[in-house]
Amino acid sequence: MIVLGIESSCDETGLALYDSGRGLLAHAVHSQVAMHEDYGGVVPELASRDHIRRLAPLLREVLAKADCRKEDIAAVAYTAGPGLAGALLTGASFAAGLALALGVPALPVHHLEGHLLSPLLSSEPAGFPFIALLVSGGHTQIMCVTRVGCYELMGESLDDAAGEAFDKTAQLLGLGYPGGPALAALAELGTPGRFKLPRPMLNSGDFSFSFSGLKTAVLTTARERSLTQQDKANLAAEFQEAATEVLATKALAACRARGLKTLVVAGGVGANKRLRERLDAAAKKPGIRVCYPEMALCTDNGAMIAFAGAQRLLAGAVPTGNGAFAVRPRWPLATA
Ligand code: KG4
Ligand code: ZN
Repeated sequence: MIVLGIESSCDETGLALYDSGRGLLAHAVHSQVAMHEDYGGVVPELASRDHIRRLAPLLREVLAKADCRKEDIAAVAYTAGPGLAGALLTGASFAAGLALALGVPALPVHHLEGHLLSPLLSSEPAGFPFIALLVSGGHTQIMCVTRVGCYELMGESLDDAAGEAFDKTAQLLGLGYPGGPALAALAELGTPGRFKLPRPMLNSGDFSFSFSGLKTAVLTTARERSLTQQDKANLAAEFQEAATEVLATKALAACRARGLKTLVVAGGVGANKRLRERLDAAAKKPGIRVCYPEMALCTDNGAMIAFAGAQRLLAGAVPTGNGAFAVRPRWPLATA
């Protein structure tokens, strides 16, 4: 069964073909980063217009890469939320129209379920049950996953998401958008500990996070003195150290709390090298296996949506095939 996946929830248009028998056949992503760069963030109207321009060419591209015809597609999975309403609507309406024309079902997929299951696309996939650390631009959550569709939220950020904190801190330090990768690169040139930043909620005894105070602490430090380039690198390194310490500590604590030996890391911040180093180091002694998506599948992409859609279909989900579609810009994963 070949499933076409369509992702358009924010600033990446991603399409992919996943075959439940053969695995991922092809995927292609168009990033809008260059377009939004001048504005310092995503401009929703521009994002929607660009998705519309990219969807059909990207479909042709993945069909050609996979050496498939449109008629080989058995179902179309699309991101129905959460995300920007207009951006979601472009992918959803494209998916519904295509599915109707092909006479195949269309299936709404939760964006975070896509991220959550993306490490299962790797060559040595994790097995259920597992703890998932979901760290993206919009969400920071710890989930207990017992099977496809069974996601228990153990804790989440009470304010900024981890990726959002990376982005905002990068902006404070004069780095471009998106800030996460730029901040991580600057941190490589700095020494943590030269500035001292808090580890918010490290010892709160639960699985909640708070990152807005960390960002404010960076702002306060930046206001107190004029920062040299080396100061900025040191501050970036300390910020990264603080954020990744809290994330890694709580993710491992969640594994301990549930007696689980598999930790899955998903979402854009999962690409952070320091976070991976910390998790790998902390997981060694308790014998916990940490699974990451392939680097290219950490940030938004169509492969994770095609895969999640296929898993839902195999688990008996009943999709629509009548051209109807709906998007849910706000949509808790536990209700998906
Ligand atoms: O999952 P994603 O592509 O989009 C959302 O669903 O939000 O995550 C994007 C987020 C951005 O905040 C970006 O700055 C962050 O992931 N990010 C990183 C790194 N690469 C991407 N943050 C820290 N270090 C990185 N290497
Ligand atoms: Zn995402």
